[in-house]
Order: sequence, then structure tokens, then C-alpha cells
Amino acid sequence: MPTLKAVRGTRDLLPPETALWNRIEAAARAVFARYNFGEIRTPIFEDTSLFARSVGEDTDIVSKEMYTWEDRARAQSERAQSLTLRPENTAGVVRAYIEHKLGETGQLHKLYYIGPQFRRERPQKGRYRQFWQIGAEVIGPPSAGSESPLRDAEVLEMLATLLDELGITGWTLELNSVGSAADRARYNEVLRAALVNVAPKMCADCQRRAVTNPLRVLDCKVPEDQPIIDSLPKITDSLDEDSKKHFAAVTAALDAAGVPYALNSRLVRGLDYYTRTTFEFTHGGLGAQNALLGGGRYDGLSEAIGGPKAPGIGFAMGLDRLVLTLQASEADQNPDPRPAMDAYIAPLGENLNPAALKLARELRRAGLSIELGDGSFRLKKSFETADRVARRIVILGEDELQSGILTVKDFATGIQTKVPRAELAAFLTP
Ligand code: HAM
Repeated sequence: MPTLKAVRGTRDLLPPETALWNRIEAAARAVFARYNFGEIRTPIFEDTSLFARSVGEDTDIVSKEMYTWEDRARAQSERAQSLTLRPENTAGVVRAYIEHKLGETGQLHKLYYIGPQFRRERPQKGRYRQFWQIGAEVIGPPSAGSESPLRDAEVLEMLATLLDELGITGWTLELNSVGSAADRARYNEVLRAALVNVAPKMCADCQRRAVTNPLRVLDCKVPEDQPIIDSLPKITDSLDEDSKKHFAAVTAALDAAGVPYALNSRLVRGLDYYTRTTFEFTHGGLGAQNALLGGGRYDGLSEAIGGPKAPGIGFAMGLDRLVLTLQASEADQNPDPRPAMDAYIAPLGENLNPAALKLARELRRAGLSIELGDGSFRLKKSFETADRVARRIVILGEDELQSGILTVKDFATGIQTKVPRAELAAFLTP
């Protein structure tokens, strides 16, 4: 039988590397708490139409990359349904916002999530078919201030703080505004007209996009097309007065807070729900997949999927890419080696295994980290195994069990001590 392997584009995460993943997640949770975000967990699969209506039928994500299947009805009362593994989490959060009528509280909701997402992309460094995102959304009725440019600036300032606290240096915040839905529609027509003459010289994808969704031409990565794209009209020239004012207020707040950014008028992002502010944090160390995170405002998304008016802004960072970036930086060549256990219990004979488990239970419940040996090991093997994982070894033989006095050897000092069982937990406590 051929050996089974993890599916292409998916991977196992093993210790000690998972310690780094946990450290990043803990740092993110701590920062989110300081900014008053609460955690939301949405299902990993949703009705396919949720993504078609939010991310957009024309996008690469929906048209090529989703894991979609027809879920059979199990009973007469059920209907067959097209389901999709979530390719991103914003749509699920907004669906939950609508479903639980969060808008009726009249409050601003600040929600974060950490979890796997799925896209059938071509796997390469920093790009997987199952990948992890840490993301957050700020959403609420306009009366709660959800449209305020201050919210955009606050989210960006939080991201700068989080990356700094994680020790990620050398990031660039790229910033743009794609304007309101009307601005975008107007810009699409300006682009369509400008592309008529040049599209025939561009790649096949661009030739198609020039007709179906001209905005998507700006996502093209084909090197030969770049000079043509650079000479196309800029979206910033199609913004109306309100959109311009909103964007100016975002940049003014960032300037006041001292968060550096670079304007990039080509940053339209690969999802259709964006309005006004869009952004990405990039990092040179990542190679072709250089976006550590991306996000933006989505003022019309709730209404597009049948909800009330609920402007919002959010982002998602690629956890896989954060890990790659930190591993590449010198400080994290060796992701947190696991700290040595407080003690290793070595039962001298298989008949002592039950008593060893009882002793381990007592010590672990007292808060100590304990590795449990096996009575089938010879003493030499117990010492070798213990030395690799723990700071001390506790010998449990018949004599020790009867007398209640245990022998503890400290590997660092070589000192051997006799300790009464009642005092053992205190003796081992660091
Ligand atoms: P996105 O730009 O599609 O946005 O993804 C956000 C981040 O997820 C990317 O910058 C990247 O770090 C990571 N990512 C995406 N695809 C992959 C992949 N195949 N492998 C590894 N990492 C990947 C969104 O998903 C939006 N929902 C963000 C958002 C939230 N906008 C508003 N709120």
C-alpha cells in the first residue's frame, strides 16, 4: 500500500515549532484584549452563496479556489445544500452579526478570530491550501461610529503595535482608498475605457479582466504588464469629496499617532467587498508571498448579504507567514525549546507502575510538570531518558514505597537527596 501523506498544500505542525505558534497567538490575544476585542468562533464551513455574495463571483477566490461540495440531504426535512470550507472569515463574522442581531444593541462590535482557512491555490513558500489567519473586525450601526476614520486608524495602529511586540521589524504598511461603491463603479468605467487600446498587449487574464472586471487588472503580477498598469488612471483620482475627506482623516490620525505608511494607489485587494480604506502590511523577507496581512473597510457588505446597514473595517494576518518571518529573524532560529520538566519518575519494576502513576498524579496536581517512566526500563535507561527531559529523577522502588522516603537526584548538581513523600512536592517546586 502506498504510504499516506498529508494532502498537498496542507501540513502538520509539530513541537517545538508549535510553541512559536502559541506564542504568537497569545501575544495577539493579549493585544486584542487591550483594545477591547472579544473572540468570535464561526463554523469552518458555510453555505456557498455566502462567499459568492460577499467575496464576489468574479474574484479568484470564489471562481477558482474554493473547496465546495454538494451536501446530500439525510432526511426528507433536509434539503441538499452547496457548502464551502471558508476561504476567509469576514463573511462568516458578518453573517453571524446579522444572524444574532448584534446591530440591535446599537453598539460597536469588536471581534477577533484565530483559525484555519482554505483556498485551492498553487502551494509555494508562504502559500498553503490550509492556512491560518488571525483576524479582527470592527462592525456596527453608523450611529455607533462604525464609519469613523478614527476606527480605521485605530485598527492600523493596533496592527503596528502587535507586529512591534512580536519583534517583527522591517514591515511596510501600504495604504490606499478604493472609495465608495459609486466611486469604484465610476473608476471601473474609466479603466475599461483606458484598457481598450492596451489590453491586447497584456496577459490573457488581463484581457479577460479588462472586459469582466477591469479593477482586477490592478492585481496582475505578470512582470511585462507592470509598466502598462502603472500608466493606467489611478483610483485616487476617481474618489468623490466624501471619500477623499475620509481618507485624509485616516492619514491625519496615523500621522498624529506616528504610524508610518506608504501610499499605494494600486492596492485594490482581491476581494470585492472593500470600500474606502484598503491596506496591506508587507515584509521583504517573505519573497513572492510578501503580504503579512491585509484588510480594509467594507461598508456595504452586511446589506449585500441581506443584513442591516453595518459599516465595518477589519484585517486578517497570515499566521503561517508570521511564523516564517520570525523563524527567519535571528532571535528565533530555535523556536522556544521546551523547558525541562520538574522531574521524571522512574519506577523500578513493572509492578510499581500503578504506584508511579499515583505519585505522578499527586505531583502534577500540585502544579509540577512530571514525566512518567516505565518499570520495564533498566535503571541506566531510566537515567538516560530522564536526563533528556527533566531536571531531576525520582526513584520509586519497593523500599521507597514502603518507607515513604524517595530518592531524588538533581542532574545539574549531581546531588542525591532522600525526601519524605509528604515533602516531595515542596522539594520539587522550582
Ligand atoms: P486576504 O488578503 O485574502 O484577506 O488574506 C489575508 C492574509 O491571509 C494574507 O495577507 C496572507 O497573509 C494570508 N493568506 C491568504 N492566503 C493565504 C495562503 N494561501 N497561504 C498562507 N497565507 C495566506 C482576507 O482574507 C480578508 N478576510 C481580510 C479582511 C478582514 N478584510 C477585512 N476584514
